[in-house]
Amino acid sequence: MALTSIFVSFALSAALSGVSQANPIRRRAACPDGVNYANNAACCALFPVLEDIQTNMFADSGCADAAHAALRVSFHDAIGFSTSDPSQGTGADGSIFIFGEQEIGYDANLGIADAFNLEAPFIAKHNISVADFIQFAAAVSLTKCPGVLPPTFMFGRVDATAPAPDNTVPEPFQSSTDILARMADAGLTAADTVALLASHSIAGADDIDPNATGVPFDSTPSLFDTQFFVETLLNGTVPGPNQGQASSPIQGELRLQSDFELAHDPATACLWQANVNNQQAMAQAFQQAFAKMQIIGQDASTLVDCSDVLPAPPALSASQAQAFFPPGLNISDVQGSCDGTPFPNLPTAPGAAVSVNSM
Ligand code: HEM
Ligand SMILES: *[C@@H]1O[C@H](CO)[C@@H](O)[C@H](O)[C@H]1NC(C)=O
Ligand SMILES: *[C@@H]1O[C@H](CO)[C@@H](O)[C@H](O)[C@H]1NC(C)=O
Ligand SMILES: *[C@@H]1O[C@H](CO)[C@@H](O)[C@H](O)[C@H]1NC(C)=O
Ligand SMILES: *[C@@H]1O[C@H](CO)[C@@H](O)[C@H](O)[C@H]1NC(C)=O
Repeated sequence: MALTSIFVSFALSAALSGVSQANPIRRRAACPDGVNYANNAACCALFPVLEDIQTNMFADSGCADAAHAALRVSFHDAIGFSTSDPSQGTGADGSIFIFGEQEIGYDANLGIADAFNLEAPFIAKHNISVADFIQFAAAVSLTKCPGVLPPTFMFGRVDATAPAPDNTVPEPFQSSTDILARMADAGLTAADTVALLASHSIAGADDIDPNATGVPFDSTPSLFDTQFFVETLLNGTVPGPNQGQASSPIQGELRLQSDFELAHDPATACLWQANVNNQQAMAQAFQQAFAKMQIIGQDASTLVDCSDVLPAPPALSASQAQAFFPPGLNISDVQGSCDGTPFPNLPTAPGAAVSVNSM
């Protein structure tokens, strides 16, 4: 074998070593930039976007504020859709920014202005649809969070020509019945909804408690782990007096009323509890439901699979994947609702009860 071909095969395997297991190694097209490879040449257009947002938009800040904001807006854009009523929007179509003057003003979109301010300058710089940009940025944001399985990114969304109307985005003070009905109307089942809410494992609230920002929904908001599902099933002891808020089990943690209701609604309680200490199942269900959410309203047959452009997410270590009861709490504090299935016993994290830090 000539020296050059040894070098080439070495460089190729190095380039491919970052590719996720979900994408089996196959012949990839060299991109015109002379650096990158993609399974489909159309995906080459995403590398300059990826490089720019990694460096300048996310600024290497990890699974934190910017990543969380980019993830939330992907849902708020996509959910503007109804399988039965075309007046409810065209789904993952960029309308939340394109018609931002209207949509960002809706009550349920409080805080989405942060995502707009974060992303708008980069949308202006790159020639991909706004709809694609929002979903691409969300997929990239997920790759910063340990525990996520490689997300999908389909490329080629058509942008909205009209805004989504108000009331397509669920509110935290709505009943679980109303939320599940709204999700079903957009094509998402109760199982999809629970799966998607794993996103609240890497999330918190700025606008629920007027006295606090960055209040996490679980004690590990930079890990895509199952703690969110554990902690939403613990007896609430810290009052949550604001609209859309329920009492939480730990000082400094915020529980949404909607998460509380979905954790206990007979339609979702067993799906919810099944995620507890079940990292692989939770991550897999999220991966699938998120792929479905990201293309709501779009014609999937016209999209190109560019998932291989995404970096591989960091792994969760075995100790991080082990769910636990927060210090001072144990199985007696569980307020389970999945009849007939006992809540798994978990170790209690050592030490005295602590309060969770804001993000
Ligand atoms: C289904 C009903 C849902 C309701 C009622 C809901 C409600 C909320 C609320 C009230 C907040 C706090 C906003 C603030 O005050 O800053 C929030 C944050 C968040 N939500 Fe949801 N959500 C839902 C589903 C989802 C889904 C499906 C996703 C993503 C796939 C998602 C991702 C996020 C993220 C990442 C944050 C954190 C944002 C940040 O920290 O900047 N949510 N959600
Ligand atoms: C932007 O992309 C479209 C195809 O998606 C192409 O037709 C158009 O020429 C591009 N515009 C610029 C300024 O590069
Ligand atoms: C916010 O803080 C003020 C002053 O400490 C307090 O009086 C008020 O009850 C707090 N409001 C909420 C909603 O927690
Ligand atoms: C939850 O905590 C409250 C206050 O500490 C207590 O009165 C109640 O019995 C607890 N409920 C459960 C289900 O543990
Ligand atoms: C749970 O903690 C309480 C209070 O610390 C304690 O009284 C109880 O025995 C514990 N229960 C179990 C099952 O460990």
